[in-house]
Amino acid sequence: MKALLFPLLLTTTLALSPRPKPPSDKCPPFSGDFIINYFQLYPENADWDPARCLLWIGCVWNATVATYSPYTHKTTVYEFPGTSHTGSVHIGGVAWDPYSPNLVTILTDSARPWDTAGADVSGEHKLIKWDAVRGKAVWEVDLTRTTGEKYGGFQDVETDRRGNTYVVGTWPGTVLRVDKTGKKVKEWYVPKPLPPTTERGIGGLAVVKGTEVLLASGPDGGLLRFDMTKELGRPVEIKIKNGRKYPLTDAAYLPDRYGGKVILVALGPDGIMVVKSDDGWKGAEYLGTVANRPVSGLEGGFVTAATQVGDAIYIVNGYWDIPWVPGTVAGNRTLFPWLDITADVDRLVWG
Ligand SMILES: *[C@@H]1O[C@H](CO)[C@@H](O)[C@H](O)[C@H]1NC(C)=O
Ligand SMILES: *[C@@H]1O[C@H](CO)[C@@H](O)[C@H](O)[C@H]1NC(C)=O
Repeated sequence: MKALLFPLLLTTTLALSPRPKPPSDKCPPFSGDFIINYFQLYPENADWDPARCLLWIGCVWNATVATYSPYTHKTTVYEFPGTSHTGSVHIGGVAWDPYSPNLVTILTDSARPWDTAGADVSGEHKLIKWDAVRGKAVWEVDLTRTTGEKYGGFQDVETDRRGNTYVVGTWPGTVLRVDKTGKKVKEWYVPKPLPPTTERGIGGLAVVKGTEVLLASGPDGGLLRFDMTKELGRPVEIKIKNGRKYPLTDAAYLPDRYGGKVILVALGPDGIMVVKSDDGWKGAEYLGTVANRPVSGLEGGFVTAATQVGDAIYIVNGYWDIPWVPGTVAGNRTLFPWLDITADVDRLVWG
């Protein structure tokens, strides 16, 4: 039970730079665990939208997208015809765009690579640029036209200040770059020769806001750095002082709370890994791991992502429930816990 031991062993860290003020935005402060009560919400990835004070949630099994207000508890669900409720496609990656605050990026994601551990990478991968004000897509693009289904497992997205979108594939590790019109998809980082699709590569992406640094997590607890000004992505391994090996890294997140200096990497059963850099991610230091917290009656969750909500930091719990409710494409769960880990992460970062 690694997940239970780690926090006891690893909570002593150096006190680093002085505690910065969290960036002020117009969303009221928010804290404390909460539960979203919505049938088959099954979150995978999520992002905080400070322009609307809403959480955007990729509902993995239904392949829908939900918004949730922690202040009013209102949930709204968006469906995508041909994708949602098929069972063969998931929605994982969802990201608010800090450079175009009215846009949200949504990624649909074939279930096959995940069901076959990369042996079959065929199936739908659509990138959707969503207008959050008008509630409809600005454009969408089919990534399989570029990949030829030779690699896949796309699961996380990020944007840069030029309006490009970066999409990370895991089987094997790749990054596509889509221009701001959605018309040009570039194989920005596709290793040649291509490793076998069963080789699990990078899983999460995170842009250091206001810079040209793109970070990628995985496959084993490591971090890679890319320079987004380059025509082709070239990964540079970041040396992590006191780094740990983790077999199952998932989404990566750079909360505004720590000004782009702290990355939170989801570790499935092992919680959230906390890594800090004081030199623009040339180097980094492992600070510790925050374990998932069991919630009575809602056990069995896997940490799929961390996200900021208001100015607090939360663990996103995913669930792999079987069997599916007949006539639907997901299990019977209705209550989904969001756990406030702000104090744990603050303690690791600021001592
Ligand atoms: C999931 O789909 C079911 C119908 O199959 C629907 O009742 C439920 O509201 C959906 N939930 C979400 C979050 O999409
Ligand atoms: C949900 O499904 C599980 C597994 O089949 C079952 O044990 C449980 O009783 C169900 N819960 C509800 C509320 O139907």
